[in-house]
Amino acid sequence: MALLQRVAERGRRVVRFVLDGRPVEALEGDTILTAMLTNGDRLRRSEFADTPRAGFCLMGACQDCWVRTEDGQRLRACGSFIEDGMRLVSEGEWQS
Ligand code: FES
Repeated sequence: MALLQRVAERGRRVVRFVLDGRPVEALEGDTILTAMLTNGDRLRRSEFADTPRAGFCLMGACQDCWVRTEDGQRLRACGSFIEDGMRLVSEGEWQS
């Protein structure tokens, strides 16, 4: 189930990416945070308490929105744009 629901600006180009091995869609100009949370209910699990995380400040200050790609690259979800072909994961062990 998606944590966020899109209510406006639906006319932008579709961007296709993979989330936890499943093909999904976002819109051009979406941050990774928006793209992931309109397709799921978390960005990742906390490395401390195994609880779901979905960002906090949404403006690049809190560091709560780190996510990773399938190949281990770390990205700050609120400050990075989604791109065609990205392969993101919200499951699994967090590697710092
Ligand atoms: S949500 Fe706070 S840095 Fe991204």
